[in-house]
Amino acid sequence: MNTSEAEALRQKEIMNRLKEHINGLSKELGRPLTYYSVCFGCQMNAKDSEKLEGILETIGYVRTDSEDCDFLIMNTCTVRENANLRVYGRLGQLKKYKKKNPHMMIALCGCMMQESLVVEKIKQSYRHVDIIFGTHNVFKLAELIEMKLNTTDMVIDIWEGTSEIVEDLPSERKYDFKCGVNIMFGCNNFCTYCIVPYVRGRERSRKPEDIIKEIEELVADGVVEVMLLGQNVNSYGKTLEPSITFAELLRRIEKIEGLKRIRFMTSHPKDLSDELIDVMAKSKNICKHLHLPVQSGSSKILNDMNRHYTKEQYLALVDKIKTAIPDISLTTDIIVGFPTETEEDFMETLDVVRKVRYDSAFTFIYSKRTGTPAASMEFASSEQEIKERFDMLLKEVQNIAKETCARFEGNIDEVLVEGINEQDSSLVTGRLSNNLLVHFPGTEDMVGKFYKVKLTKAMGFYYMGEIVEETRN
Ligand code: 5AD
Ligand code: SF4
Repeated sequence: MNTSEAEALRQKEIMNRLKEHINGLSKELGRPLTYYSVCFGCQMNAKDSEKLEGILETIGYVRTDSEDCDFLIMNTCTVRENANLRVYGRLGQLKKYKKKNPHMMIALCGCMMQESLVVEKIKQSYRHVDIIFGTHNVFKLAELIEMKLNTTDMVIDIWEGTSEIVEDLPSERKYDFKCGVNIMFGCNNFCTYCIVPYVRGRERSRKPEDIIKEIEELVADGVVEVMLLGQNVNSYGKTLEPSITFAELLRRIEKIEGLKRIRFMTSHPKDLSDELIDVMAKSKNICKHLHLPVQSGSSKILNDMNRHYTKEQYLALVDKIKTAIPDISLTTDIIVGFPTETEEDFMETLDVVRKVRYDSAFTFIYSKRTGTPAASMEFASSEQEIKERFDMLLKEVQNIAKETCARFEGNIDEVLVEGINEQDSSLVTGRLSNNLLVHFPGTEDMVGKFYKVKLTKAMGFYYMGEIVEETRN
């Protein structure tokens, strides 16, 4: 048994002990013990929350959608300052529940907890928090709960980093038919604005055989679509022995019988290989969508951001991708107001947006993160100028996206149904390979199945459709 397997076993033993404890407490109180899970941030965090929820369910907590619960877990994000402010706001509100329920525990985890200043602030001003841990030891939740049961102190366990990847612990899936799968953790890029490398640690890839085994088990359990997750999937496998490329991993995953759709994110433009474009172009199952964050259109700003590509290289890459895969959807992330950005630089960003014509773009105003190189750079523009640029970019991005998304109107395309439409229960909502949503008449039993749908009307960022026939189920 290797150390990771031994650790998983140890955690499972703790979960068994806790299960007895929770069961006893529940009998005593004459009601089930409940948990409430809230998650901020990206898909990696969402995946971590599924793992945390899996542990909580295993030890006997029952999910509730009220903060008035017995165990509250908040998985935090720190990529931008406003994410942090939201957490402090919520924490203040929780005091009243804690006062009324002596069994209530409050746990905080995730990226924000990897910052020592944050932990100091919580220790001083939010003493009603019971457990704090970070991004590297999500698998330890049961152990931390057991520790808290034996102490009145706040339990704090933050790791600086880890080389360990603990496999095979429970996970509570949000959907039956689709699931995120971590293929790597951490990031080695050190973009100068970004705090992720400091809070998620160095890049570590999971072994291909572990990834394949997990996906095979998911497929046996009814999953038809996976989303491969990593901060920079294009550098997957470089540090493994023997090394393997991301494209080769995709080739192997494609062969898994019963798996019908493969998505992945996020791609860094500097590492996106011709081999990957080739695999995507030839594949039936890899979805026709690439999230390719550009961040800025100015080569000078890209250099200041440490992105390792120029505007021209990015545009050439986009051309290459569009030529090889004409119906691909491209989406992106853009930061406005990086400290050294001038009006001229911003115009370069607008130019890229107009040339690429993204299906959608997430736009952010630069947020200073203490400890990153950009935090000590002087601002070349005023707040007002940055705000005006942001508004202008948002308008442009939305106008272009509306036109770009509409380009498939009238086509018949395959849709995976994800659920009943939230506004109109006579409709179902499904997703195209290119990630766009389609609403069409349907019923609950269609969820998780594929249909050929005529895209009758483009509605801006989604389509209305009509079912043509059932496929591939
Ligand atoms: N300020 C604003 N946006 C940021 N992002 C990352 N760091 C910052 C920051 N300091 C954005 C990037 C990234 C996305 C996940 O968040 O665009 O791609
Ligand atoms: Fe937030 Fe980034 Fe952490 Fe994801 S990895 S939770 S986006 S800080």
